[in-house]
Amino acid sequence: MTVEPNVFMKTMERRIGLTSEDKSILKSNEAWGLENASTMADHFYAYLGRDEEMNAILNKTEGRIHRLHETFIQWFHQMFTGMDDWGQAYADCRWHIGLVHVKIGIAPQHVVPAMAVVIHEVGKKLKLDGKSEELKDALGRICMIDLAFIEQAYVEVSSSAVLRETGWSEALFKRLIATGASSM
Ligand code: HEM
Repeated sequence: MTVEPNVFMKTMERRIGLTSEDKSILKSNEAWGLENASTMADHFYAYLGRDEEMNAILNKTEGRIHRLHETFIQWFHQMFTGMDDWGQAYADCRWHIGLVHVKIGIAPQHVVPAMAVVIHEVGKKLKLDGKSEELKDALGRICMIDLAFIEQAYVEVSSSAVLRETGWSEALFKRLIATGASSM
């Protein structure tokens, strides 16, 4: 594994611009986050359920949907608490979530629109509850960081699987991708 989750977290914080003010705003709205997590989970799984392909994944094993509802609530709440102030534990947790999705075969085309739904639904509820634009922006940024983890896991797992199977060097692999992309 070439990604060190905590280093990736810090890089994403810098690139996406999650500030200490954002973290304070999130923490001070932790109760709101927990209160609304279950409703957000309902919106999220209703959305996934309307897509034939994603619905099939959700219902593939017994009890999966029920388990997912619970893990979504934890995930949503953790965006507000930051677990260990958005440190190692937070980064490891987000990396693990990424790996779980890669194993099940959930691709960027599924994850990106799903995160857009979270942002859209949360935005509507924040407005309804008279919450600030600053909170909405902070939540948008932490959602983007979490999304980056899932997407990066997809790339890392796919490329390291190819490297392991073939014994190719990273440089050769990158060259092949560049050549392949220019012939598409
Ligand atoms: C915003 C994007 C998403 C977030 C934040 C999210 C969140 C999570 C979390 C927190 C877990 C639990 C991971 C663990 O076991 O530790 C999980 C697992 C899972 N997610 Fe997602 N998810 C997202 C997108 C999707 C999409 C698009 C699908 C498509 C159907 C999906 C299907 C699943 C499935 C099937 C599992 C494994 C459930 C099990 O059998 O335990 N997720 N997700």
